[in-house]
Amino acid sequence: MSRVHENIISRRTIYRFEETPIEMAALEVAFEAARHAPCHKHTHPWKFYVLGKEARNSLIPEIERLATLKAAGKDEIEVKEGIQRAISKILSPPVLIAVTSTVTPEDDFREMEDYAATACSVQNLVLSLWDQGIGSQWSTGGITRSDFVYRALGISPIKEKIIGFVKAGYPAIIPQRDKKSVDEIRKYLP
Ligand SMILES: Cc1cc2nc3c(=O)[nH]c(=O)nc-3n(C[C@H](O)[C@H](O)[C@H](O)COP(=O)(O)O)c2cc1C
Repeated sequence: MSRVHENIISRRTIYRFEETPIEMAALEVAFEAARHAPCHKHTHPWKFYVLGKEARNSLIPEIERLATLKAAGKDEIEVKEGIQRAISKILSPPVLIAVTSTVTPEDDFREMEDYAATACSVQNLVLSLWDQGIGSQWSTGGITRSDFVYRALGISPIKEKIIGFVKAGYPAIIPQRDKKSVDEIRKYLP
């Protein structure tokens, strides 16, 4: 098995990270991989915003609001715990990256192809990190769709769509995942 193949099939989404910081040089290698993703018409629709402490802190009021909405009907302690968990998910990962893809409301097909290309660039990024021993989690949720977050991060919703956040760090635990077999997903046609 080649090292590339081994890297692809061993990668797992990581939910718990060590506190050890990630070197910027390792991130830069991963962004180099990300920018080599395929894209139709050479649109290069992806952008990566690496959130420092200030940027993360600026999201806290919105995280609190979304976590409170999610906890509707629960008791006060559960609401507080939910808010703390949600804040920790933003503050604790060693690296937090908002990923955007170009929006083209006048051309739905282009936007769909650009989203596909940006997903490819995220996978390039994630596989490059994994190759360097760094795990990551692609996460979506309320904060990817919040006007507050666009404003806080200085992202124009007219030009770009936040398609997710990538959290990254050295893995504390590598989970196991069952995947569909090749026989279930592939069919050779005559
Ligand atoms: C578009 C996309 C969105 C995802 N959003 C989340 C998310 O919001 N929260 C989460 O825990 N994992 C998220 N994931 C990670 C998946 O849950 C994960 O890939 C899946 O469980 C398979 O595990 P594996 O990545 O280890 O193969 C997302 C993955 C993709 C591709």
